Amino acid sequence: MPVWVDVAPVASLDDNSCLSLDHGRRRALISQINGTQYAFEGLCTHADELLEFSRWDAPAIFCPHHGARFCTRTGRALTPPATRALRPLPLRIDDGILQVAFD
Ligand code: FES
Repeated sequence: MPVWVDVAPVASLDDNSCLSLDHGRRRALISQINGTQYAFEGLCTHADELLEFSRWDAPAIFCPHHGARFCTRTGRALTPPATRALRPLPLRIDDGILQVAFD
């Protein structure tokens, strides 16, 4: 059963911005692009290293370990050495608060 975790009030999110949210040993990478929110597991698909907020480089997610880049909208791997897409995480808005689900 998923655990829904508060991210931030939707109204407080800047467009074309991104943030990371840690929950236990998990990390979500959340972005808002042109008014739409996206969330992905913050774990690189190349070697299971955590992706870092400070290394985000819109419009791509950047892995600081070996330089792979991922699309912020689809999670698709854009450059090697990663070849697999990031895992999407469900999002919802509850009473104006953006929430992400960890399963
Ligand atoms: S761990 Fe991310 S590119 Fe290697």
